[in-house]
Amino acid sequence: MVIKVNDQEINMTLLNQYMNGNSKDLSTYFNGVEPFIDLIITSPPYWDMKDYGGIEEQIGFKQNYENYLNDIKTIFKAIYKLSKHTATLYVNVDTMKRNGKLIRLPDDIARVLEEVGWSHQDTIIWDKVKTLPWSRKGQTRNVFEYILMFTKGDSKDYKYYVDRIKTVDDLMEWWVDYPERYSPEGKVPANIWQYVIPTQGSWGAKKDFGDEEFKHACPFPPELMARLILLSSDENDVVFDPFAGTGILLATAKQLNRKFLGFDTNPEYKKVFEKVTIPLVEGDWLRIEENLREQDNKRKIFREVIYKLRVLKVPKALIKKTRNLHNKGKINIKNNFLMVFALEEKLNKAQLQVKNKEFLGKVNYIFVWEDNNTIAQATEIINDILAKSPFTKYGLLIQPLVISKDELRSFVNDVNMLDFPLYSYTRGRTNSFSQEINIRSFMKLIGTTTYYQFYDNDIPPIISNIKIDAEDYEEIERIEYQKR
Ligand SMILES: C[S@@+](CC[C@H](N)C(=O)[O-])C[C@H]1O[C@@H](n2cnc3c(N)ncnc32)[C@H](O)[C@@H]1O
Repeated sequence: MVIKVNDQEINMTLLNQYMNGNSKDLSTYFNGVEPFIDLIITSPPYWDMKDYGGIEEQIGFKQNYENYLNDIKTIFKAIYKLSKHTATLYVNVDTMKRNGKLIRLPDDIARVLEEVGWSHQDTIIWDKVKTLPWSRKGQTRNVFEYILMFTKGDSKDYKYYVDRIKTVDDLMEWWVDYPERYSPEGKVPANIWQYVIPTQGSWGAKKDFGDEEFKHACPFPPELMARLILLSSDENDVVFDPFAGTGILLATAKQLNRKFLGFDTNPEYKKVFEKVTIPLVEGDWLRIEENLREQDNKRKIFREVIYKLRVLKVPKALIKKTRNLHNKGKINIKNNFLMVFALEEKLNKAQLQVKNKEFLGKVNYIFVWEDNNTIAQATEIINDILAKSPFTKYGLLIQPLVISKDELRSFVNDVNMLDFPLYSYTRGRTNSFSQEINIRSFMKLIGTTTYYQFYDNDIPPIISNIKIDAEDYEEIERIEYQKR
């Protein structure tokens, strides 16, 4: 299907076009076209702030506020109709000052968008870090803009892949000790995003754009665009910008294998898009991709480490719990643990899916109990505790077994899992292994003073086929807690 826009054509299957056109006419251009847009990211001209090339059809410039908002409404109404049910819209906008009063453009735009059916979901603060020198009475230096997120009507199935942008960059130092409190995917990012704005005023140099130095007041940073595209679209989806300007969004969408379509009233910007923006974003892509890959990699490491830390934390937390219960008089047997094995059983993804729940792994815990007389009670207590919260929230398939000291030898001979490298976690430290061990030699230490040095209070050595080394997760920054 081919759509005519003035003297240009859009091939609706291929798209990937920057159109010179007026977004107020979108409903005329696309009359009768089925919804095809998956994601819109745009920055409308702010009301009467800038003249984008003296073009008559542009909105905002030399317009009264009411007419400006009406035009915004018309444009986003047309986009609503052309967007799929799963679509998401991000509008970048800021407040402005006029005649000594603050104009709350973000509020007014959100209101007119809601009037045509868009539902306001979120407000992200884009911290631009830098601004031009500033001296204005009644206003501090404005370094942020708004990014308003909308979805269609009451649609619940809009695209929002937050796992793709989760972060492990600002974790407090204690995350290694409380792995059960952190989602293995990382943290949902906060709603303040820091992206330095590409140099204002002169972006791109003379050499990039013939003699005419490219001047565009507010190009988007491509990294910010990439983050939103990943958050709310899939490959081959259609990404749309009705106020394309330099076309940074479109060029970024291209790099991420999305289809793109943009409109702008100023024909010069289309040239800028082709001559400057596309090569600029392409040239910068290796660096951007490297940053994205680094984030992905950190998330992968984090997921793996959270899983391992949880596996080793279970016995420690259980032993502390039994100690507390005993101290409070709720159980009448005292801790009597001689050794604990935490043995991961390798299962595939399907096996880890139980009753519609996805588990991180399966672990056999073997608790070696010194006192033969209380082994039945210990078994009952341990099973009972592990079947309840918080242990049910660790995301692990937990298989406990309590054996006596006398059974230890035959257990070690029978269990083939013990032929793999084993690691000891001693003195209650479960976030980094102490030593790689040979279980038979290690057992010979039982009863010696060396063996009791492995204890922390009543927490005995924990032996595992899982290796956690603090070095493995040193890339994940830890913010030190500052006492006030
Ligand atoms: C704030 S700028 C967008 C900048 C863009 N986000 C970028 O990365 O370069 C707004 C743009 O809207 C364009 N514009 C103004 N009125 C328009 C209309 N009626 N239809 C299409 N574009 C319009 C202007 O020419 C200007 O380039």
